[in-house]
Amino acid sequence: MKIYTKQSISLLDGIDRKTGIITQKGHELEGKCIANSVLRFPKSTGSTVGVSTLLELKENSVAPKKIILGKPDSNVIAGCILAEIPIEVEGIKIKKLTERELGKIQHLPKYLQDILIKEAEISGAEGFIQIDSVQIAGVSYKTVGEGGLKAIKYLTDKGDKVKVPTTLNPSGMDLEEWKEQGISANFAEKQLEIINAFKKIGAIPTASCIPYSLGNFAPSGRHIAFGESSAVNYANSVLGCKTNRENSVKTIISALSGYTLNNGMHLSENRKPDCEIHVKCELNSFSDYGALGYYAGENSEIPYFTGISPNLWELKAISAASAAVGSVSLFFVEGMISTDENNIKKKINFGKKDLNSIYKKLNTTDKTPDLITVGCPHYDMFEINMVARLLEDRRLRIPFWIMTANLFKEQARQLGFKKIIEKAGAKLYSDTCMVVAPIEDLGFKITATNSAKAAKYLPSFCKQEVIFKPLEILIELACS
Ligand code: F3S
Repeated sequence: MKIYTKQSISLLDGIDRKTGIITQKGHELEGKCIANSVLRFPKSTGSTVGVSTLLELKENSVAPKKIILGKPDSNVIAGCILAEIPIEVEGIKIKKLTERELGKIQHLPKYLQDILIKEAEISGAEGFIQIDSVQIAGVSYKTVGEGGLKAIKYLTDKGDKVKVPTTLNPSGMDLEEWKEQGISANFAEKQLEIINAFKKIGAIPTASCIPYSLGNFAPSGRHIAFGESSAVNYANSVLGCKTNRENSVKTIISALSGYTLNNGMHLSENRKPDCEIHVKCELNSFSDYGALGYYAGENSEIPYFTGISPNLWELKAISAASAAVGSVSLFFVEGMISTDENNIKKKINFGKKDLNSIYKKLNTTDKTPDLITVGCPHYDMFEINMVARLLEDRRLRIPFWIMTANLFKEQARQLGFKKIIEKAGAKLYSDTCMVVAPIEDLGFKITATNSAKAAKYLPSFCKQEVIFKPLEILIELACS
């Protein structure tokens, strides 16, 4: 059976891994089963841990028997190589690499060479490039499942160590306070198995989507291999590093080898904006910038924003939302990193009406939430301090989670911010987030957030109804 679609598929939350049925809302294939089909789609969207979906589909005997991609997509290609699903990319013939390129990686163990070479050949990459830093994706047991766990163990059991500084993406639980978070012992056991596997290869067990705030990044113009889509977008667009949206498996390969493929965002010719988005309304909060990112993800591949001067935290909001909604991994803001504007084919405006319509789309209910959560992407020390000040002398009546990295939780403990947060009735959790923790199994049904990225994933990936509002409004909601 051939199944053909012109629409991209979200591998993380668009396919039921047990049945092979497309569940992506509004997709033309919604409700259709892709098991044993020849599936043609242009590319995947959203999270880079989608590679685990292909492994799980195979594990559950509901994988397509062949995939045909419209464009090279590392997520899908690596997933197919590991799950042994035949794959081809339309218009790209298997490209044999030159002796010079093969020579660059000939010192590596054979299994690393094999995966790098196979992906380079299928995707038509120029060859290989050395990298300075890695952020491993696919760390939460909830997102990778049994298929992903097998792949992680296969790649980390061989005795090899990471070659460059390597940190992890958020896991499925607070690694210190998971019992308090309500996580089951079974889930915790699997999650710790994953963390221990990464520790064994020498990765730093900091599980956070803001590696750049924790010292894991490289100078502008250098090549890195990041896995989490918002971190990829931030590294390319704000720091000027060069990274593709690397999938979970590929980040492990890159960490162990110190190499990635020389294609996509590593090549200057691909780093040009295609669409100008002129912002005509005032943006007053992190959520507003997230809504702008959401709109950009829906309407462009490499946006060029004019009419705004965002700060570093607002840039985080744009990075997260635009990468989650579309496949944006690079954007430009007028006055920041300079670029070649001649490639811009489309110009659109973003006004108050557009802003309101994104809020309308992301708010799926007006009922009272049973969980409020902020810190997507993870909060850094500035943001923890800010929320602690807002919570001082308040008393929250609804569970309120603030997500961060373990290093920042420790600093917040030492500086007294954690105490202020807990006195108000909120929790500062590290190493995890509201999307990749199994919140749907903890009894939560309605979640409020100030993050457009979280608001996008919470319904599909966590079965939540969603309230999407700025932080100050969420705090009032929690106190009322
Ligand atoms: Fe980070 Fe989780 Fe958001 S990984 S970007 S906090 S969905």
